[in-house]
Amino acid sequence: MCLVFFGSKSMFKTTSPFVRGLCSTPFGTININEKFSLFEKQWTPHIIGELNGQYVKLCKLKDEFVWHKHDNEDELFLVFKGTLYMDFKDAESIEIKEGEMFIVPKGVEHRPRTNGEVVLNMLFEPKNTKHTGNKKYSFSAENQKWI
Ligand SMILES: [Fe+2]
Repeated sequence: MCLVFFGSKSMFKTTSPFVRGLCSTPFGTININEKFSLFEKQWTPHIIGELNGQYVKLCKLKDEFVWHKHDNEDELFLVFKGTLYMDFKDAESIEIKEGEMFIVPKGVEHRPRTNGEVVLNMLFEPKNTKHTGNKKYSFSAENQKWI
């Protein structure tokens, strides 16, 4: 059983498998600024939507992340606020400005970083994409949280 939402109001309850697909994402608009205000933890993606086997995630980034790669998934970074830098082992770093996006191809080792500012970033990635790719750290987020 799940509730189907239209805007902020619950419209009906259903057990229909067709409609159940709507349950993971409320059937209404999602305010991205509001979602960003719900967490402070950096380098920890939070899920805000799901479509076609992919999650839409938000994360706050500051300073350097770890070098890693995703063997089976391309990774899309859409910078919502600030400027993000993407470092590569075998290529020059790329600057991704507010309102721009960049796709890291699968298998390419990368390290996102900022110049000390907190960057608000949106990610689109397959549901099984691991937070730190091929490497596991104490801070690797295994079960990413819906907000
Ligand atoms: Fe990555």
